[in-house]
Amino acid sequence: MDGIELNYQGKKDEDEILGSVSNAKTIKLGKNPTYISGDNFAVMSSLLASGYSGSVDLIYIDPPFNTNQVFNVNDGRVSTISRNGSIVAYSDDLKPFEYLEFIRERLILMRELLSEKGSIYLHIDCKMGHYVKMIMDEVFGAENFLNDIARIKSNPKNFKRPAYGNQRDMVLFYAKNKGNNIFNNITQGLTEKEIESKFKKIDKDGRRYNTVPVHAPGETTTGETGGYWRDMLPPKGRHWRTSPKELDKLDKAGLIEWSKNGVPRIKKYADEHKGKKIQDIWNYIDPAYPLYPTEKNLDMLKMIVRQSSNQNSLVMDCFAGSGSTLLAAEQTGRKWLGIDQSEYSAKVVKERFSKIKFDYIEFTNANGEAIEKESATIESVESLATADIRSLAQAKLAI
Ligand SMILES: C[S@@+](CC[C@H](N)C(=O)[O-])C[C@H]1O[C@@H](n2cnc3c(N)ncnc32)[C@H](O)[C@@H]1O
Repeated sequence: MDGIELNYQGKKDEDEILGSVSNAKTIKLGKNPTYISGDNFAVMSSLLASGYSGSVDLIYIDPPFNTNQVFNVNDGRVSTISRNGSIVAYSDDLKPFEYLEFIRERLILMRELLSEKGSIYLHIDCKMGHYVKMIMDEVFGAENFLNDIARIKSNPKNFKRPAYGNQRDMVLFYAKNKGNNIFNNITQGLTEKEIESKFKKIDKDGRRYNTVPVHAPGETTTGETGGYWRDMLPPKGRHWRTSPKELDKLDKAGLIEWSKNGVPRIKKYADEHKGKKIQDIWNYIDPAYPLYPTEKNLDMLKMIVRQSSNQNSLVMDCFAGSGSTLLAAEQTGRKWLGIDQSEYSAKVVKERFSKIKFDYIEFTNANGEAIEKESATIESVESLATADIRSLAQAKLAI
């Protein structure tokens, strides 16, 4: 927003952040979808240094929310409680100003990776979300803001604190260039309850329907929709919904219902309803038994992918976690690129992507330092679940 900027300790110059690209080593993506294990700042810098700017149509990210927690897995169950034998999936313990800069640095690189018709969805909670919104306005331009979506994340809970229960988080949606972004106008089917209340009538074949008047508001004196149909003129101030010829066709097809008093209405069937425009309140509750801490709802991710990318698009999630975005992209026929620095994420993705052929690249070691990397094309994860990925490396990739 012109004249408005968020200031905090340690905020770097954008040029300094983009400077990382000139020092980054190069990386080459193959034809397969790819999962890269490593710090996303280093990986994205390398992607930009390797000519991938403008190549991603859709980014969905669900970064840590600055919760000051460590997310563990104990005996296969996710938790924020550390016990003996716990595996740390990831830590989320930066100071708020460090966190904001951590996000901002990465958003700047993501903006460069986005194509001109690209868009980004950032999932965050309501504690940090408003600061992150300001950062996104700065990085992508407030003019490219599209939606602040309220995502209902859980059923109502009985919080003890003296405040309202928190049932939602937020998804911030920005275009690289508003108006140019892929948006496929995906609609949402009606619920059973909505069908029952909107389509109360049932025909002889058991199909639910309702009826609408054959005329609509607005008078026309010139066109045929203002003329006679079956010796009737449309009521004052209204016109026929369609031409008299089309109304005849509808009647012949049994799609006009006549009342006892001879009033015609057009029949609309529930099973032909085209669905509702999706609004900015989403009801997608996360899995009750997640494979990974804070794993997000797969149906929500599939809807996002179908809405904001095309079949030939590259979809990226650089905080991939359990790989749900990658799976959503895979299941909707898109190419994907996942990045995560957690070893546990890599393990879950390898196990979850049964029978999916993808390239696996190790980018950084446990200390986050870039290393001479190994990559492997993974054809069947079944064999991998027990195998050490390093032993499957087929080629060395210098980064
Ligand atoms: C909230 S989780 C993502 C969960 C994911 N959306 C899902 O549905 O499973 C955040 C992820 O970001 C990863 N992460 C945090 N900092 C990172 C970094 N600098 N580079 C790459 N991944 C990072 C963590 O390892 C963690 O898996």
